[in-house]
Amino acid sequence: MNFPPVIAIDGPTASGKGTVASLVAEKLGFHYLDSGALYRLVALGSQKASIDPQNGSELGILAKNLVISFKNGQILLNSEDVTEAIRTESVGLCASIIAAHPEVRQALVGVQRSFRQSPGLVADGRDMASVLFPDAALKVFLTATAEARAERRYKQLIAKGISAKLVDLLHDLQVRDARDSSRGAAPLIVAADAKVLETSELSIDQAVKTVLDWYQSKAA
Ligand code: DC
Repeated sequence: MNFPPVIAIDGPTASGKGTVASLVAEKLGFHYLDSGALYRLVALGSQKASIDPQNGSELGILAKNLVISFKNGQILLNSEDVTEAIRTESVGLCASIIAAHPEVRQALVGVQRSFRQSPGLVADGRDMASVLFPDAALKVFLTATAEARAERRYKQLIAKGISAKLVDLLHDLQVRDARDSSRGAAPLIVAADAKVLETSELSIDQAVKTVLDWYQSKAA
């Protein structure tokens, strides 16, 4: 096992990988990388700077120069607290568009790899296993049906007091799945040596336990 060890958790949008990955990190005392947040930060930055989402070279420059910090559960962009602002559906959709540009992906490689620190890292995203950490100790592809994922997102939004329509959420999620899976640069794929975890019928605790059991058996 290469050190510091990495657990790579990839999967489609709203699969619950963020929740599972952060809990696994907490249980193991590992660092946690939410790589989707980085793409969301570039998306929000591009909206603020009115950059065309199709302009890969300008977006790449923006991504390289973003001043980002993760502190005590807060996410700062150029010193502004954007923890909530990056979680909207509109920023998520924009993130999926700008993430297709190789210039943007390349600009974010260094910052993502810098999270790999002792005693270990749990990284969640789309290409953690295939591109960022191909030597990960454990590779998990966490998924659920589109319907189960749309329903989870719906419940999260309603709980936050944000109104939403289930059919619209299902549609947006299918559009994002298609774009994230079909793009040329680092598409969402199941790495050859990844274990697939289908969570439609699992609780969060069951999913976390499964990942921890898999990791313990690899580490043994
Ligand atoms: O995981 P998320 O929903 O926060 O990610 C938002 C978008 O960012 C997603 O639609 C695709 C992109 N993304 C990516 O291309 N590669 C990653 N490693 C993580 C996210």
